[in-house]
Amino acid sequence: MTDNLSPIDKAKYVAAKRAVEYVEDGMRVGLGTGSTAAWMVKCLGEMVRDGGLKITGVATSTRTAQLAQEVGVPIVTLDEARWLDLTIDGTDEYDGDLNLIKGGGGALLQEKIVATASDQMVVIADQSKKVEKLGAFPLPIEVIPFGWQTTRALVEESLINMDVLGRKTSLRMADDEPFRTDEGNLILDLHLRQIGQPRQLSFVLNQIPGVVENGLFLDICDVVVIGNADGSVEVRDINNGTVNHERVDLNETDNLFVDIAD
Ligand code: A5P
Repeated sequence: MTDNLSPIDKAKYVAAKRAVEYVEDGMRVGLGTGSTAAWMVKCLGEMVRDGGLKITGVATSTRTAQLAQEVGVPIVTLDEARWLDLTIDGTDEYDGDLNLIKGGGGALLQEKIVATASDQMVVIADQSKKVEKLGAFPLPIEVIPFGWQTTRALVEESLINMDVLGRKTSLRMADDEPFRTDEGNLILDLHLRQIGQPRQLSFVLNQIPGVVENGLFLDICDVVVIGNADGSVEVRDINNGTVNHERVDLNETDNLFVDIAD
């Protein structure tokens, strides 16, 4: 059933398929955003529809909420769920300590709130997301529209004293318009190339009044599941200090191979 998938989609699917093994009956599950997380939502949909799994999902974006609805995963708000057993989400980068850069899809604020409100965060990725040091992927920060150019100037000024290799910033666009988050905010992408001290940077950025949140997820992720196109997975658990190499069966007749809009 996976024969028609590109190698990268196979890798994402394999990671998602392994990660949903963490989901148990009765759990409240945070549902991430992005192309890898979309596979996870589809896998959960299949488990609910065909396997009778009973879970409650909390989506991290309107896109994910819509997909969950389409595939039959029941959704409530975070205020209704209050606290979650588990969140499964994708990432743009992860390092050896399982610290992350997220927000490539523009959903970092809800993703961070939901992941922080979870007992456990499992991240799903393909090999391309692994880095020695965070920062090659531009760091997204969510800023409120009011005075955003002043906020941008303050961010650029603060970067002068930071341990980073680049200091360019750009306003994220969607076609010809500034990209808007689910909260109606803007995204600034910081082209830092390498972040020497992520904790210091995260703290300094979040002190700037117009900055709502940044895409550094530090000490939030517990497990990273890295999928490969051949069906192998690597499961890195930071709390147990374990790295396991496993296989996911790609020949199962999963009923979820339809187009997924990210
Ligand atoms: C969404 O805002 C992001 O944090 C995504 O989780 C991240 O961009 C990974 O997306 P892909 O799985 O599409 O690479």
